[in-house]
Amino acid sequence: MVAVAILAAGKGTRMKSELPKVLHKLGAKTLVERVLDSCQLLQPTKQLIIVGYQADQVKQSFSLDPKIEFVDQTEQLGTGHAIQQLIPYLKGFKGDLLVLNGDVPLLRNESLQTLLQIHKKNQNDATLLTAQLPNPKGYGRVFCDGNNYVTQIVEDRDCRDAQKQNNRVNGGIYCFNWEKLAQILPNLSADNDQKEYYLTDVVHFLDKVMAVDVDDYLEISGINDRLQLASAYEILQMRVKNYWMKEGVTMINPDTITIEDTVKFESDVIIEPQTHLRGNTTIAKGSKIGPGCLINNSNIGENVTVIYSVISDSEINSHTTVGPFAHLRGEAKIGQSCRIGNFVEVKKSTIGDQTNVAHLTYLGDAILANHVNIGAGTITANYDGVNKHQTYIGKGTKTGANSVLVAPITLGENVTVGAGSTITKDVEDNALVVARNKQKVIPNWNNK
Ligand code: UD1
Ligand code: MG
Repeated sequence: MVAVAILAAGKGTRMKSELPKVLHKLGAKTLVERVLDSCQLLQPTKQLIIVGYQADQVKQSFSLDPKIEFVDQTEQLGTGHAIQQLIPYLKGFKGDLLVLNGDVPLLRNESLQTLLQIHKKNQNDATLLTAQLPNPKGYGRVFCDGNNYVTQIVEDRDCRDAQKQNNRVNGGIYCFNWEKLAQILPNLSADNDQKEYYLTDVVHFLDKVMAVDVDDYLEISGINDRLQLASAYEILQMRVKNYWMKEGVTMINPDTITIEDTVKFESDVIIEPQTHLRGNTTIAKGSKIGPGCLINNSNIGENVTVIYSVISDSEINSHTTVGPFAHLRGEAKIGQSCRIGNFVEVKKSTIGDQTNVAHLTYLGDAILANHVNIGAGTITANYDGVNKHQTYIGKGTKTGANSVLVAPITLGENVTVGAGSTITKDVEDNALVVARNKQKVIPNWNNK
């Protein structure tokens, strides 16, 4: 039986932020969400989050998850003090307690599994994840005997010069025999540089405390300031991109590309430089995205091409080309084999198959059938200052350059709209409609 407790009560002074540290985002998710995710496969019987600084805000960020219990640490007197607050919540609990630092977001589930296995196999009182860091500055240093049993943990700021040479650090991830820990928790004191109750001091009161080195030291990267937040983002990006490249996605100049870990690809997708893919985006086989695209929460079908464009909350079907410089947003649904071209904005509109919207157009709240051709500069005037209205355009209809379609309006099938027309009334199938002043020519005007 495993209970999990996440330390998330600290302010995160070094972030210099109004937002509690654990609510800072690393890609699509907050630090503490990532920490919580890392332990889900262990199916913990209890999930406790210790909150304090701006507790309401932290609680709210999890308001939809009924499995989580919050533990208030009203004064933040250190990590040991935070764990002392668990005592009433774990009365009678007889299993192991996994403690996770809310600011260590890159941990893999496999590493937690290994930690638990070693903890159980050796019947330790406590087992902690450690790593040998090239630059251990800022981390607590872990001192062990020859068998990996921990003799002491000294915080960076409490270290003597000689102790600072030890590059084996505490990752802030621990597994405890809860009954033993609960007994000795009251023994902690705040006798150190920060005058805080350190959780790491439990080492002095427990018998068998073992250190286990994590496979990849990057996993225990702690986030205490914005520099560490930026490096963690790079590590996460490297992980995500390496994974997808191995799955058959080509990335040209991957250093210039960012991909959130919520995005999914089929094989043979090509991502060109300066492209950023976010949210629940999916990209199907054979599509080529970029250079210079931002795509958020959108589904891109097979063999689609997108160049220098911004797409959010939208869907694009196979063999369609988008851009350069198109903006599709708010549930734009584009059919198959369409062309959405230069300087075109499409909002909350559905566009049929083989329809072209090639230049300088705004389509808002519109439904276009198949085989429509929208001329350059066509605008749906969908907003009357108070409400938004719909435009319907039937199959095979063509609008001339610089047409304004004042919604609500329906153009039938195979309609032709003359260039420069402002259309305010519905048009029947197969009609030509022209709504502009007749050209007037006054000869010899300049000879007067
Ligand atoms: C801590 C460890 C250090 C380890 C490092 C790993 C201690 C004393 N030190 O140091 O050995 O190398 O993590 O990243 O534990 N928190 C509370 N209540 C408090 C104080 C902190 O919940 O009263 C939470 C913070 O929100 C944070 C976590 O505990 O999520 C760690 O606190 P932090 O101040 O970042 O500790 P470090 O100095 O990083
Ligand atoms: Mg920290």
